[in-house]
Amino acid sequence: MALYPMKLGPIGVFDSGYGGLTILEKIRKLMPQYDYVYLGDNARTPYGTRSFDVVYEFTRQSVEKLFSLGCPLVILGCNTASAKALKSIQQNDLPQWNPEKRVLGVIRPTVEAIGKVTRTGHVGVLGTVGTIQSLSYPIEIAKLFPDIVVSGQACPLWVPLVENGEYDSEGADYFVKKYIAELIEKDPEIDTLILGCTHYPLLLPKIKKFLPQNVNVVSQGIIVADCLKDYLNRHKKLETNITRGGSCLFYTTESVEKFQKSAEIFLNENVVVEHIKLSSTNM
Ligand code: DGL
Repeated sequence: MALYPMKLGPIGVFDSGYGGLTILEKIRKLMPQYDYVYLGDNARTPYGTRSFDVVYEFTRQSVEKLFSLGCPLVILGCNTASAKALKSIQQNDLPQWNPEKRVLGVIRPTVEAIGKVTRTGHVGVLGTVGTIQSLSYPIEIAKLFPDIVVSGQACPLWVPLVENGEYDSEGADYFVKKYIAELIEKDPEIDTLILGCTHYPLLLPKIKKFLPQNVNVVSQGIIVADCLKDYLNRHKKLETNITRGGSCLFYTTESVEKFQKSAEIFLNENVVVEHIKLSSTNM
């Protein structure tokens, strides 16, 4: 007997904070017919500097909450969670919760897309410390494109800049320039750049400012949205369990007011937000 029986419900999108909103935005634009629920674990963000076990536990609690809200499918709109928790959730937890439900990440679809973009066969990945140290991108890229050379660069200060609304400030220039320069120094032949963190699209104007002009930036949101559409076309049984009403509910583990203000910057629209408790967030 499944712990969370399959029933009709919205698509769940999860992130440690606001970053997953850049994924949600593109998914909703492509498939506005479905209902959505977004969960941001803002009380415990950032995940990028946390250990494997902690990211797994926090992500597990969040996905379980989304399943308890009736989601037949959850997207981890977070590279760190996709790198450190996705496999364990799929293997350890999903079979107990309900093997018919699905949890999907953002790394695999991104990797599938880059083969068509790079000409030099040299790809750069920017991400949190957790994502870069997990080597998830080079490992997944090597499976599909063994000839592509991958260089990773952790950008530990970028998520705090975005979360604190400083992505457009002069101060942000220093850290954007610094990490880009470090990456290009590792491999000057890079012609394709993966923004391997869902917070980074907000820094895109600055990233482009400091990036050599011949480098293409891969936009993760659109890739994940296209890939999900294709996945739902191929998994009709799962797709028929998604409710169609075009609604979107937002939950945060932190302050509702704070989430509302920041979400409006990410999405350019007013959002209705509710507070939600996860197992060990006593807030
Ligand atoms: N947005 C998350 C990602 O894509 C990282 C944010 C965090 O460090 O919590 O990796």
